[in-house]
Amino acid sequence: MTASGSTQKNSTSDKGNDNAKAAGLLRIGVIGAGVMGSNHARVLAGLPGVALVGVVDPLADNRKRVTDMAACPTFSSVEELLNAGVDAVTIAAPTHLHRDIALACIAHKVHVLVEKPIASTAEEGHEIVNAARAAGVTLMVGHVERFNPAVAAIKQAIKGEEILSIGITRVGPFPPRMSNVGVVIDLAVHDIDLIRWFTDSDIVDVQPQLASAVAEREDIALLQFRTASGVLAHINTNWLTPFKARSVTVATREKYIQGDLLTRQVTECFGFQRDGSYSMRHLSVGHDEPLRAELMAFLKAVSTGDKPAVTGEEGVASLEIAIKCLDVPAGAIAQPRRPRAVAS
Ligand SMILES: NC(=O)c1ccc[n+]([C@@H]2O[C@H](COP(=O)([O-])OP(=O)(O)OC[C@H]3O[C@@H](n4cnc5c(N)ncnc54)[C@H](O)[C@@H]3O)[C@@H](O)[C@H]2O)c1
Repeated sequence: MTASGSTQKNSTSDKGNDNAKAAGLLRIGVIGAGVMGSNHARVLAGLPGVALVGVVDPLADNRKRVTDMAACPTFSSVEELLNAGVDAVTIAAPTHLHRDIALACIAHKVHVLVEKPIASTAEEGHEIVNAARAAGVTLMVGHVERFNPAVAAIKQAIKGEEILSIGITRVGPFPPRMSNVGVVIDLAVHDIDLIRWFTDSDIVDVQPQLASAVAEREDIALLQFRTASGVLAHINTNWLTPFKARSVTVATREKYIQGDLLTRQVTECFGFQRDGSYSMRHLSVGHDEPLRAELMAFLKAVSTGDKPAVTGEEGVASLEIAIKCLDVPAGAIAQPRRPRAVAS
């Protein structure tokens, strides 16, 4: 354990951990103290019924940042956290480590919430799912957008409706640090999950158009889908827009719903008349922090043993579709050609 590096601290936090167990608190740890993991630690530190046992990160600077913020012990390896004793973990380490870390935690009968995407490959995702099932532990995937109150309002508005089409835009500037994935795995996987969730149906046909205008991997993607239930959907995503925008439109037989996932404004048009007129109303949208709602859903699934809000199987299914979008023939990803300017 490396929190302030002292034995005193170790025995103090070990005692604290024993007390937490005795008090019936769920002992939880966070693995990875980067952008997402720091947020997990911040939220978990404020949740009732939980003892934040500690946060793991191999980088001392990141450990210090999270200790300053969440006032919890830190560890430099997953093994140290597991030895300290936890009932559950959230995994927010880089995606290529999800499989090994999840399997190590599951082998200790520890419940797991793993950030999206569940793993680097569908095979690795299946391994995590199978291991969790065999061990009888809860496995949830961090598709946090489902917990965005605007998304929840859209889901509620389309209940019982015959969905015809869905359009999702998720664009913005390049992230400050480029990871080793492009926009499809990083961003579009959120929306693939939403399309599957809104329609309660599998995606059976994928038509991707990809381009890498600036980055090595695809940084523009226009993706078209058809679900088994016959819904047409498209995702427009890129890292070439100077501002962030996230919007969802859903056309049903009776309604047209528009949601801005950032401002959280959701409107629906309904009562279509033959003369082209219709009514419109703003829907009521909650104020919950999506990550807080997601982590509470995970804790509830752990304590009740019920199916989690986003299952491992769903995480794998969305990853499989995202990977399918990248399965285009060599040379089919448009590369920058110069001059790109339109002739005047
Ligand atoms: N749900 C979302 O909206 C969302 C948003 C961003 C990232 N993510 C996901 O969260 C994960 C982390 O992304 P990030 O942006 O926070 O990355 P990040 O690079 O900011 O953080 C990753 C952290 O993991 C640490 N780490 C590396 N090896 C480790 C190990 N063996 N054990 C523990 N920690 C280790 C790194 O030092 C780093 O601090 C990724 O899977 C990413 O796809 C999800």
